[in-house]
Amino acid sequence: MPHTVPTSAPAPAWDQGSLKNPHQTADKARRVQRMFSAIAPSYDLNNHLHSLWLDHYWRRQAVRLADIKSTDIVADIACGTGDLSMAFYRVHPKYVIGVDFCHAMLQGACKKTTAVVERGISFYEGDALQLPLRDQSVDVVSIAFGIRNVSDWGQAVDEFHRILRPGGRLIILEFSLPHNPLLRAGYNFYFRRILPRTATLISGDKTGAYQYLPESVNTFISPVQLTQRMQKAGFSGVRAKSLTAGICYCYRGIRYA
Ligand SMILES: C[S@@+](CC[C@H](N)C(=O)[O-])C[C@H]1O[C@@H](n2cnc3c(N)ncnc32)[C@H](O)[C@@H]1O
Repeated sequence: MPHTVPTSAPAPAWDQGSLKNPHQTADKARRVQRMFSAIAPSYDLNNHLHSLWLDHYWRRQAVRLADIKSTDIVADIACGTGDLSMAFYRVHPKYVIGVDFCHAMLQGACKKTTAVVERGISFYEGDALQLPLRDQSVDVVSIAFGIRNVSDWGQAVDEFHRILRPGGRLIILEFSLPHNPLLRAGYNFYFRRILPRTATLISGDKTGAYQYLPESVNTFISPVQLTQRMQKAGFSGVRAKSLTAGICYCYRGIRYA
């Protein structure tokens, strides 16, 4: 189990002002941490339900793009309750390391994996901006629905490059918006008007987590900007695969040297 001081009791993390562009709030990391601490117990249920279980399919696509070998060490960053870490574990790499800075989310991951913890998967508390991993020490770095939540996503991409061995793959899964304007409008109606209500009801959340979700996607950088930043960090062969009409993207880049 990860060992840290428990995070404080749920309190509002987002208000109308900070939701205009949550990426520009000075204390984004602290707010994100507080929000995930509050919603951790119902995170999986809300995730599966509100994506109509498509999240499993998106994670499978991420694993497929990683092209896992039996000798690979995978670092799943912002692993949360560990669903992507487990998806990697199931295709038999050498080892999976899950890292997240939210204790409550990691507790969920640990509960799910107690049976396999001794055999090739473990979870650590750590920050994506300063990973507790040596230079060039892993073969695959993944981050699912996490890069948008990191306060300095560009710095995180550099950090992922640092810990990857030459030949290593960076896999990013992240929400975006449908390309088709009509579909986008319909999706945003669901995303901004319906999901926040139902997800808040299920979670009992008081931090504004499910108001933050659609606003953080709507104000996040475009897939083109993210691929450009991956190239700037030194990744080659960068590609962005649109999944489910652009609701989600899977990015891959390779560290060659
Ligand atoms: C939407 S959840 C995604 C969890 C998981 N990857 C999944 O696919 O369900 C985002 C996670 O990012 C984590 N996170 C955000 N910023 C982080 C940071 N700077 N360092 C580590 N974890 C971070 C949060 O604690 C949260 O667990």
